[in-house]
Amino acid sequence: MRIVVAGAAGFIGSHLCDRLLDEGHTVAALDNFLTGSAANLKHLEGNPRFRFFEQDITRPFPVDGAVDAVAHLASPASPKDYLEHPIETLEVGSVGTRNLLELALHKGARFLLTSTSECYGDPDVHPQVETYWGHVNPVGPRSCYDESKRFAEALTMAYHRKHGLRTNIARIFNTYGPRMKLDDGRVVPAFLDQALRGAPMTVFGTGAQTRSFCYVSDLVDGLYRLMQSDERYPVNLGNPAELTILQFAERIRCHTGSHSEIVFEVLPEDDPKRRCPDISKAHRVLGWQPRVSLDEGLAPTVEYFRSLAATAA
Ligand SMILES: NC(=O)c1ccc[n+]([C@@H]2O[C@H](COP(=O)([O-])OP(=O)(O)OC[C@H]3O[C@@H](n4cnc5c(N)ncnc54)[C@H](O)[C@@H]3O)[C@@H](O)[C@H]2O)c1
Repeated sequence: MRIVVAGAAGFIGSHLCDRLLDEGHTVAALDNFLTGSAANLKHLEGNPRFRFFEQDITRPFPVDGAVDAVAHLASPASPKDYLEHPIETLEVGSVGTRNLLELALHKGARFLLTSTSECYGDPDVHPQVETYWGHVNPVGPRSCYDESKRFAEALTMAYHRKHGLRTNIARIFNTYGPRMKLDDGRVVPAFLDQALRGAPMTVFGTGAQTRSFCYVSDLVDGLYRLMQSDERYPVNLGNPAELTILQFAERIRCHTGSHSEIVFEVLPEDDPKRRCPDISKAHRVLGWQPRVSLDEGLAPTVEYFRSLAATAA
């Protein structure tokens, strides 16, 4: 298959390109480097089944030749990035999604949207099931991301209902692994950066809020299975192993051998108190479940962040 991957130079997009190429597919990769990096795709240079096009998907763009599938991963994803680029975030979720849906329609291709657990907002249902409609502040600082993704989901369903487009929607929960940006503000790189520098590790609030972390190869496997399924409604993809932020900080200290102290700061506005996926649907319809434990996933991730630190030194 020839697959267009939008957001290919990002953390998850670059790993999806690797997986698609490993499976024997051909990839046309699009990215405008708003939050991604050419370094994430450097290892694919010279691969005859891979081509990169620097392209902002909110602007009109032609894609020559046959396309069998379109995977839409283009969007700032970390709070730091989308708070810095709120309008671009809304634009890529709305205009960008529409452009990619039109591309899929025009080419007779299928379409995958990577949505987010942020669609559930600060949930009052726990763990979050796909049938829960969410508890989202439409005008809060994070609304540029949450509502962009909720709109993208609605638009995707509209193309499916109106045009019969073969669509899939993944609601991704916190994912981590090599190629995350050191300074993206998300908890995994933030803690790793602080721990590796021996700097104080910042925990917001009391650290009692929970998160669950999915290793990137597991997530990409879920996306790959979803792209081949007929499931039109959203499917949660994430790791349900839940731990508090404080417990997570301690795990990072242990993995890095760091003696960083833990310091507490005020919880940011709209920060979800609990975040844990119900993945029974993914298990039922895709036969998918995460296989990589937190300790197994942290080992290569710590190695990657150590190598970044060594290159910077
Ligand atoms: N990483 C996670 O834990 C997580 C969780 C939930 C959802 N997601 C979703 O998964 C997708 C990938 O996330 P990520 O963590 O790899 O983020 P990322 O920021 O590393 O990658 C996103 C990529 O999209 C590109 N991009 C942004 N706007 C663009 C535009 N207008 N045109 C072309 N390219 C554009 C960026 O340059 C970047 O390379 C996003 O849609 C995100 O919302 C990620």
